[in-house]
Amino acid sequence: MENIIKVIGVGPGGPEYLTDAGAAAILQAEVVVGGHRLLEQFARPEQETYALAANLEPAIEFIRQKYKHNRLVVLVSGDTGIYSFAATLAEKLPANCLEFIPGISSVQLMFARIKTPWQDAVILSRHGREDHRLASIVKAGITAAVLTDAKNTPQALARELLASGYSTLPVSVGCNLSYANETIFRGNLTSLAESNHKFENCVVVIGV
Ligand SMILES: C[S@@+](CC[C@H](N)C(=O)[O-])C[C@H]1O[C@@H](n2cnc3c(N)ncnc32)[C@H](O)[C@@H]1O
Repeated sequence: MENIIKVIGVGPGGPEYLTDAGAAAILQAEVVVGGHRLLEQFARPEQETYALAANLEPAIEFIRQKYKHNRLVVLVSGDTGIYSFAATLAEKLPANCLEFIPGISSVQLMFARIKTPWQDAVILSRHGREDHRLASIVKAGITAAVLTDAKNTPQALARELLASGYSTLPVSVGCNLSYANETIFRGNLTSLAESNHKFENCVVVIGV
């Protein structure tokens, strides 16, 4: 019988947020594919590893060739369903050779940190991509959770919304959630735009 590729959402990073199902699948794997940080954290010395790079095509080809004869897992951060390499794999590979093991998203942990329900929130990503829906979502009074990167920083989002006429909206920024250096900023668009803090690896929640 052919093996199946297990795509594991490993959670926001802290090992305590990896599910038992994810941990069991990693333990049984012969080959582990993932970003450098996740491989360092979750792969074991006896396992073959393949580190993802910016160009994902070679990784997809490696997975395609390798999984048939090896128990292979792919590690993705957070949950498989939120702006994840898991979606690319689902596009490129037949559904019947994939299993997704969900994880705790950084977005989910952020809303838990600020003790706020998120069933009506809209999740956007500015991580390596543009998305121009933010101002209209905020204007409609909908809570937005935004994944950011080194270019689309929390301050840049705040300046963008201030330029659209907002000033008093509450904002929270959760950085390195679940890691020892986790920080939570709580303020409003103006105080965020004026902040000199270097926010890295973060989720920004706007409107609550
Ligand atoms: C490619 S997206 C993956 C999101 C992931 N699928 C999830 O559910 O959290 C990467 C972005 O998620 C956010 N992120 C991932 N881990 C995080 C953490 N531990 N703390 C805060 N934000 C995090 C950051 O915005 C980062 O740029």
